[in-house]
Amino acid sequence: MTRTVAPSVTCPARMPAMPRRILVVGGGAREHALAWRLAGEHGVESVLVAPGNDAIATVPRVTCVPARPSHGPEIAALAAREDVDLAVVGPEAPLAAGVADALRAAGVPTFGPSAAAARIETSKAFCREVADAAGIRMARGAAFTGAAEARALAAELARDGRGVVVKADGLMAGKGVFVCDDAAEAAAAVGGLLARTTDDEGPVVVVEERLSGREASVIAVCDGTVALPLPAARDHKRIGDGDTGPNTGGMGAYAPIPDLDDAAVARIVREFHMPALAELARRGTPFVGALYAGLMLTADGPVLLEFNARFGDPEVQVLLPLIATPLAPVLLAAALGRLDRAAVGASPAPGAAAGPAAPAGPAAIVADDAAAVGIVLASDGYPEAPVGGDEIHGLDAATAAGALLFHAGTERGADGAWRTKGGRAITVVGVGPELATARDVAERAAARISFRGLRRRHDIAAPAEVPA
Ligand code: AMP
Ligand code: GLY
Repeated sequence: MTRTVAPSVTCPARMPAMPRRILVVGGGAREHALAWRLAGEHGVESVLVAPGNDAIATVPRVTCVPARPSHGPEIAALAAREDVDLAVVGPEAPLAAGVADALRAAGVPTFGPSAAAARIETSKAFCREVADAAGIRMARGAAFTGAAEARALAAELARDGRGVVVKADGLMAGKGVFVCDDAAEAAAAVGGLLARTTDDEGPVVVVEERLSGREASVIAVCDGTVALPLPAARDHKRIGDGDTGPNTGGMGAYAPIPDLDDAAVARIVREFHMPALAELARRGTPFVGALYAGLMLTADGPVLLEFNARFGDPEVQVLLPLIATPLAPVLLAAALGRLDRAAVGASPAPGAAAGPAAPAGPAAIVADDAAAVGIVLASDGYPEAPVGGDEIHGLDAATAAGALLFHAGTERGADGAWRTKGGRAITVVGVGPELATARDVAERAAARISFRGLRRRHDIAAPAEVPA
């Protein structure tokens, strides 16, 4: 039983070659899920992960290599030495540091945008500029360098009583966003952010209207021109149940989400991803990689909160177990600019190695008719003051309960014991025919894992939280 997530059907006969050796850059739970998925695909011989982590190193056919993930020359030299057919860059920091550029310059087919294209995530001011130029719907707002102008807009937006959101321009690991109830709170947030930044070139703080609704993450695999969506997922960014407390990198996710069906996802890709791809290509910085639209589903329809330039974490931990289409050839086709543009009526990718002999990638990414729920277990003190070094118990029991465990901040000592390292430690993923059954697996498995100070949510995909 499969479900089509994109506008057409897959055509395995047109799949490009399977990459046999793959390099994944990064070492968190997202990269654990990617390595697990790619190494498990028929035809993939080995997956290198730089630097990976102790849990990733236990995956069959996966080897972790102690290279610096944000060091372009080091990663490019590793890819060349190991003769990889495809590199996949996971986190935002290496993308911002130009690791995808270094890999491409070394002739390695690479899934991940250039530093210039990744600015869509690394600068919220740039994201607003692209969205404006492309006619993409965003919250009303603007980017500022000066506190007085930023506070003036905050006061204006606060006048109708709906609240204001203040954001740092640059990368803040999900912690640079302040959702404020009134102008005074927003003014304090503006002051705090401007005091923290040393950059006196260009805008550093974004002020925008506060929207309400449920959030959704729509992530599409892109080759510069064409965007093929994965099913929509829902992350939970606040630390506490019922969306309370400070923002984090993400405390849990589920997919698919009942309030965005396949037709709605296809429409979002047409209205958000495709115009962004066209605008970035027009500027000479085509986007090749995972383009992630963080959306607020308002009463008036979806509105963009942010674009990310990579797969979501923890979203991809729940999405990869659901994808039926082989992922490795899709990512290679995207890296080569060869996703099937006939399916979406797009023109050839700029600079794509087209021609009669060039095999096209699939016309859609197909998902199983199933659901997945992921619960993040974070260390003591996360997100304000994370502490590591606590021994983790119950991992085998959680696996025996049927869950997939994707590790981020953990390590295994010489004594064989697993310990936290501070921050998000493990995503516990349950898969089942329905959200309720998937949640049951994830909850039962997560309950078996314990460590001092464990922080987690208990309402991920809870019946009262999931729209009918
Ligand atoms: P961002 O990094 O821009 O996605 O913001 C992180 C989180 O802050 C989002 O996932 C939302 O929960 C919240 N947020 C951001 N912008 C807005 C907005 N305009 N209105 C309401 N909440 C927002
Ligand atoms: N799940 C939020 C993010 O990946 O940015």
